[in-house]
Amino acid sequence: MTYRIAPSILSADFARLGEEVRNVVAAGADWIHFDVMDNHYVPNLTFGPMVCAALRKHSSAPIDVHLMVTPVDALAQAFCQAGADLVSFHPEASTHVDRTLQLIQAEGKQCGLVFNPATPLDVLEWTIHRIDLVLIMSVNPGFGGQSFIDSALRKIERARKLIDAEHARSGRDIRLEVDGGIKVDNIRRVADAGADTFVAGSAIFGQKDYAAVIRAMRAALAH
Ligand code: DX5
Ligand code: ZN
Repeated sequence: MTYRIAPSILSADFARLGEEVRNVVAAGADWIHFDVMDNHYVPNLTFGPMVCAALRKHSSAPIDVHLMVTPVDALAQAFCQAGADLVSFHPEASTHVDRTLQLIQAEGKQCGLVFNPATPLDVLEWTIHRIDLVLIMSVNPGFGGQSFIDSALRKIERARKLIDAEHARSGRDIRLEVDGGIKVDNIRRVADAGADTFVAGSAIFGQKDYAAVIRAMRAALAH
């Protein structure tokens, strides 16, 4: 199993974002997780495609865009053109989920669906053949620094089964990412439930030594 750590720059210093991205990649990050909030789908407001395009020049690490916006389509396309590598959205935020997935793929980017703590995985029955990533929220979206919601573990187990069944059927690799409240002391449990990609915002950017946190996370995953 190849594990990936995706620091969320939501908890970085917004006045020094380019430097923060370079530092966290140098500290061992695999992906940069980019939380887009619109004060409509979620009660918070972050950054748009222009900031993504600006950060693209600071690192070659994949940019993992998590859209918490509605409507989705125009922004999904804008982020593809701004240098995102993966673009994920919440199915309830799009009126035509399959169309939005196709829009992202037509831009040559990977696409993913995000599931809130109370959202069932039902839509995967009709979308898993298309997607590259399933993102399970272990907090309600909108803010960094919240505590991990334990029922996410059962949902991760379920998503893992669906992903493995799709792999057996088609040979496609789909990543299972978890977002919210991931720390050094719970990452192992999340991996045991079946996750392979871990978003961590406050756990990494809340410490001085980013490399030490990422090393401790990898050590926990290696056990
Ligand atoms: C929440 C965001 C998360 C958040 C995670 O809406 O999607 O990516 O930044 O932050 P922590 O790791 O602090 O829970
Ligand atoms: Zn996120």
